[in-house]
Amino acid sequence: MARIAYVNGRYVPHREAGVSIDDRGLQFGDAVYEVCEVRDGALIDLPLHLDRLEHSLGALGMAMPMPRGSLVAVLKQVALRNKVHYGHLYWQISRGVARRDHGFPKGAASTLIVTGYPGNLAKYEANAAAGVACVTHPDERWARVDIKTTGLLPNVLAKQAARTAGAYEAILVRPDGTVSEGSSTSVWIITQDGTLVTRPPGPEILPGITGAVLRRVAAREGCSVEERPFTVEEAKSAREVFLTSAGNTVMPVVRIDDAIIANGAPGSIATRLRTAYHAYVHRTALQ
Ligand code: PDD
Repeated sequence: MARIAYVNGRYVPHREAGVSIDDRGLQFGDAVYEVCEVRDGALIDLPLHLDRLEHSLGALGMAMPMPRGSLVAVLKQVALRNKVHYGHLYWQISRGVARRDHGFPKGAASTLIVTGYPGNLAKYEANAAAGVACVTHPDERWARVDIKTTGLLPNVLAKQAARTAGAYEAILVRPDGTVSEGSSTSVWIITQDGTLVTRPPGPEILPGITGAVLRRVAAREGCSVEERPFTVEEAKSAREVFLTSAGNTVMPVVRIDDAIIANGAPGSIATRLRTAYHAYVHRTALQ
């Protein structure tokens, strides 16, 4: 099946889709993006992803490229045209095309790209059933990672360090020894008394949508959530550890560096929350 991308008003074959070599997203990473899950023919928690998109755009002095309703229609079209029943949608808005100059261009129209990726549900479930391994890595990012920009080089290097070590994710560690988040995930621990702990929102982490929804799921499941920084040592000796993101929903972690978490199998609380999560999310039906 031919894959279809959306670029600035046109649906085009994926391999022919392109942007100008003067696009500021390409030259400066002057662009923001979102990723949402597609599951059972619906976009998962789309309104929250659009809220965060507006936060990112606003923080960079950029406007929405089109009204929300029109953007939702494009996102649905890309999912439908690519037959994404399970998978992900990616959309990116750059400050547009202009002769290279660091300052903002005057009058440039933003560039909007949308792509859809069918996912491998069996592989994703197998990862969750076995649990995944993580390595720790220094957090070398800039001070405003609450803005979801495409400038992800430190995240890319951290993820590759994890892959090279045979691990699934890199857990980013701040100079004070506390965990900020994963290279493309939020990180959670569960204390011995069953309390979920994750870092409070702030400029040093991305405010994860999956995590925001999981807070509500946890409340319904009778689990208490504490927002505070935690150290790598605390994570290594936690009762359970898990990651959240649009790509992973709730993904149990069974090893951090050389430390096996609990008995080395996915924990019961993370597993229960993973099941409960999908019963709770907001769905935007594709048609
Ligand atoms: N990543 N932290 C970082 C650094 C992330 O890149 C992501 C998401 C998250 C989790 O956010 P959410 O729950 O809204 O997906 C946390 C996306 C999936 C990506 O870059 O592909």
